[in-house]
Amino acid sequence: MTHHTHNLLWWQSGVIYQIYPRSFQDSSGDGVGDLAGIIQRLDYLSDTLGIDALWLSPFYPSPMADFGYDVANYTDVDPLFGDLAAFDRLVEEAHRRNIRVIIDFVPNHTSDQHPWFLESRSSRDNPKRDWYVWKDPKPDGSLPTNWLSHFGGAAWEWDEKNSQYYLHSFLKEQPDLNWRNPEVKAAMFDALRFWLERGVDGFRIDVAHYIMKDPDYRDNPLNPNPVTAHFKPVNEYDKYLHVHDKGHPDVHAVFREWRALLDAYGRERPRYSVGEIHIFDWAEWCRYYGANLDELHMPFNFALLWAPWQAAAIRKVVDGLEAALPEGAWPNYVLGNHDEPRLASRYGREQARLAAMLLLTLRGTPTLYYGDELGMVNVPVPPEKEQDPYGIRVPGMGRDPARTPMQWDATPNAGFALPEVKDLWLPLSPEYKEVNVARQLTGPRSLLNLYRRLLAYRRATPALHWGSYRALDAGTADCFVFLRQAGEQRLLVALNFTAQEQKLRLPEFGSGEIVVSTTMAREGKVNLADFSLRGNEGMIIEVR
Ligand code: NOJ
Repeated sequence: MTHHTHNLLWWQSGVIYQIYPRSFQDSSGDGVGDLAGIIQRLDYLSDTLGIDALWLSPFYPSPMADFGYDVANYTDVDPLFGDLAAFDRLVEEAHRRNIRVIIDFVPNHTSDQHPWFLESRSSRDNPKRDWYVWKDPKPDGSLPTNWLSHFGGAAWEWDEKNSQYYLHSFLKEQPDLNWRNPEVKAAMFDALRFWLERGVDGFRIDVAHYIMKDPDYRDNPLNPNPVTAHFKPVNEYDKYLHVHDKGHPDVHAVFREWRALLDAYGRERPRYSVGEIHIFDWAEWCRYYGANLDELHMPFNFALLWAPWQAAAIRKVVDGLEAALPEGAWPNYVLGNHDEPRLASRYGREQARLAAMLLLTLRGTPTLYYGDELGMVNVPVPPEKEQDPYGIRVPGMGRDPARTPMQWDATPNAGFALPEVKDLWLPLSPEYKEVNVARQLTGPRSLLNLYRRLLAYRRATPALHWGSYRALDAGTADCFVFLRQAGEQRLLVALNFTAQEQKLRLPEFGSGEIVVSTTMAREGKVNLADFSLRGNEGMIIEVR
C-alpha cells in the first residue's frame, strides 16, 4: 500500500535503537551497565550514529531471575541501574539531543517477589488473590491445562500453602497477571501514566498478546507441523498450537483502551507503542493495529528475522507484509534483539552489510540492536558463566551470547567499564580489540561507517521515508531488488544474497547513479539495462 503523506510522526520517519542496559555502559564500576552510563554515550547515538529513538530493555527493581523481565516494582529503577533521578536525567539529555525514549513495559507477568504476588499468594481470600491466575487441578488430579512455559516444563506451579496452581508463561518466578480483573488493568495503566508523566515517548510491550488467555482454560491442541525460526531447533514448546494460552480476541479491547490512554497524552506530543507479538500469520498479526488503527501503533514484525536469509524468502516476507497491511497501518522491520542470536552470526560478516542496507531502505520503521552496527557476533559463554535462565533450563537456547558488553574501544574492558573493573556480568568478545567503535570510526569502509552513511542518506531522502515500495524482477533469483519512489524521486535497492557476482537487467530504468554500495568502494553512473553486483554487494541507485 502506498503512503502519500509527508507528515510522518517521529516513530514513522525515525530509526529506533535498542539498548540492553546491562550491557551498554557501566559507570558505577560493578561490571553491569547503568543509566548514567547510557547518558555518557548519548552523543554516540545522536551524532556518531544518528538514530531517532532509543528503546531501553527493563531497568525496574527486579530479582533479575529473567534479567529485569521479572518486575518487582513498575514505578522505580533498580539500584543496579541508578534511580528515578538518573532516569529523569536520561530523558532530559536524550530529548535535548532530539532522541525519543521508549521504555520496556512488562504487562503479562510480575516477579514472584512483587508485593502484589506476595499478597495474592498469602491466602485464598486475600483481596489480590484474583490478580493472578490460580487454579485447582483437573478432577483427575492433573495440571489445570497442558500449557507449557516458554522456558521449559509446565506453565503451572503448585503452591503448597493454599493448595492451588498458579500460571507462569515464562519462569515460575514470573507469575502471570490476570488482566480480566479490572483492578489489575487499572494498576497497570497507573504505571503507564507514571512514566508518561515523567516524559517517556512510548512503550515496547513485552509479549503483548499474552495478556488475554482462553477464559475457559482449554488445553492447547498439538501442532501437526511444528516450525520455528530457521536458525532454532524445534523444541517442546513448538509442539503445541498456542491458541488458548495467549492471544485471546479479548486482548483487542485492552489495546484499544491502552491506545486511548496514549492518545490522551499524545495531545501534548505524540506517544507510541510497539507490541512484541510473535505471530506469523499476517491477517492475525495485523489485527493488533486495530480494526480502526486504534490499538498498537505497530506490532513488532519478526518475519524478516525468522526467514531464511535468501533473496526469494526475504522478498516474500516484504511482499507479504505490504499486501496484508491495512490502509494507513505503518510497517516495521527488525533483524536483531536481545532474544536472538546476533545478526552477524546468523548471516556472516559480509551479509551483515547487506542486512544493514535492507533494514534501512525498506518501507517502515527499522529497529536496530546495539552492537549490530559493529558486526558484533555471538560471544561464547562458558557454562559456569552462563546467566540466562532460558539457556540454563533448555540447552542451546541461551541468549547470553547476544547480550555481551558493547565494544567501544581497545582498552581493557573495551570502554564498557573502567579498565580496573574485575568482573563484567558477561564476558567481552575475544575480538573486541579489532571490533570496536573507535577502530571502526577510523576505517572508511567499516561496517559502522556503512551504517552511518546509510542512516545519513536515509535521513535526507524522502523516498526512503514515505516513498512507495515495489519489488522488481531483474533476471536473477539470487538478488532482491526493489523500487522506492516518492514523487519524482526514484531509488532502486539491489541486494545480492550470494557470495558470487550476479548480473542484473532492468532495461526499463535506463541509467542511474550509485549513491551507496555496501562495499563503499563504488559510486557513479550505471547502465541499468545490464549491470552487476559483486558477491555480497548491495547498492542504492538513484534513477535518472
Ligand atoms: C520477551 C522478552 O524479550 C524476553 O527477553 C523475556 O525473557 C520474555 N519476554 C519474558 O518476559
